Parts: sequence; structure tokens; C-alpha cells
Amino acid sequence: MKNLVEDRVTDYLRSLIPPYDEKLQNLARQCRKAHVPIVEPEVAQLLLFLVSSRKPKKILEIGTAVGYSSILMGRVIRQYKGSIATIERNRARYLSARKNIENAGLDEYINLIYGDASDILIELKDSYDMVFLDAAKGQYLNFYPEIYRLLLPGGILVADNVLYRGLVIPGSTFHRRKKTMVCRLRKFLQELNTNPSLTTTILPIGDGVAIAYKEGDMQNV
Ligand SMILES: C[S@@+](CC[C@H](N)C(=O)[O-])C[C@H]1O[C@@H](n2cnc3c(N)ncnc32)[C@H](O)[C@@H]1O
Repeated sequence: MKNLVEDRVTDYLRSLIPPYDEKLQNLARQCRKAHVPIVEPEVAQLLLFLVSSRKPKKILEIGTAVGYSSILMGRVIRQYKGSIATIERNRARYLSARKNIENAGLDEYINLIYGDASDILIELKDSYDMVFLDAAKGQYLNFYPEIYRLLLPGGILVADNVLYRGLVIPGSTFHRRKKTMVCRLRKFLQELNTNPSLTTTILPIGDGVAIAYKEGDMQNV
């Protein structure tokens, strides 16, 4: 994937990240070999930073793949008895994720849900203090109302791949079959930035990460 910033910047940032333990490194290697998409190293590190510093009690992840990011966050939330609900619609990936989460000893903390998020989100009754959105980019805009409903005041939404290799930036040239996706992502970013209850920042790391904070005090909910 083409980096959004100069390769030397990405390489330097990556060189500073301490290596994860052998088990996680192995899982990342297996994913790369099997062409299973997982978070970029600098996005993984951002997730670790956010979870370690904010200590969200309940995380909702949309797009589990084979469980890499769930396990990464799960190891932190286990320390303070938090929980993660994570949704995956691809049967083979869901089954691999189940095995990987069990092998990591995290099945008590991670609730893996099989199905399409468009069906699952409307059924969810819980509220979450962090949502990690890492699924089909073309659907982010459709998911947005449900995610907003499920996000507790004081909570954050982290959405990956929002700059879509830079194509979202006006002036970029792309094939017309990508137009719908680009327009939807632009609209999604506009929604995040114009909702008066959200404070949003967009980071040009990985494929672009949006972080939106929902105003409010979790303590008073
Ligand atoms: C980029 S991968 C997730 C990577 C994972 N978060 C990680 O870093 O380890 C995106 C995953 O989202 C899943 N997905 C895409 N759209 C979805 C939807 N509407 N509902 C549930 N899962 C979806 C895909 O099957 C794919 O496995």
C-alpha cells in the first residue's frame, strides 16, 4: 500500500515502535502471508496508546479479520477487566479469529460476533466508550448513525483507512469505479467534522485514521 507520507517518515516512525512479543509477531506474519489485512504498525501503536491511556471499559470493533487488533487491545483491557465486542462477516476469518483469541487466552474478554455489521449494529443494546471501525470503507457512512447511537458521551470513535490512499483528498485522480467510495468517505469525514457533539482529528498515519470524541461525561451516564 502507498504510504500517505514519505516512506522515510513511515520507516522512521516504525523503527521507534518496540517489537511486540513473538506470538503477536507470528500472527502478523501469518496475516501478511495469507493476505489478511491488519492494522499498520503505527495504527496498532495508536490503538495501544488510546486503550492504555483511556482505559475504555467496553470497546466495539467493527472488522475483526482474524483477531489481530482485538488481541492487541484485549491484552490491555484484560488488566482492568474491560471487554471487547468485535464483528466479522467473513466466515473463514471469523473461525480463525475464534481460534486465535482462544489461543491468546482472551475469550473471556472478547465477544466475537459473526455477521454483517449492517445487521448486527442495529441489534446491539450496549453502549461503548470506544468504537474501532475497520471494515468496508464504503459502509462507514451507513454505519455512522448506529455507531453514534452506541458511543457513550465521553467516548471515542477511531476509524481506520479514512483517507483511502490519499484518494479522498480533493485533486486526486482515480478510476471512476472508485468514485462512490471516495464520495462516501468524504461525506463520512464531513459528518464527523460538522457534528457539534463531536471533536474530530484526522491523522495521516497508515491509510488515514479519524478519531472523534463525543462530548459528555461518562461518569454522569
Ligand atoms: C481491515 S480488516 C480488519 C483488520 C483487523 N481490525 C485487524 O487489524 O486485525 C477488515 C475486515 O472487516 C470485515 N468486514 C468488512 N465489512 C464488514 C461488515 N459490513 N460487517 C462485518 N465485517 C466486515 C472484512 O471481512 C475484513 O475481515
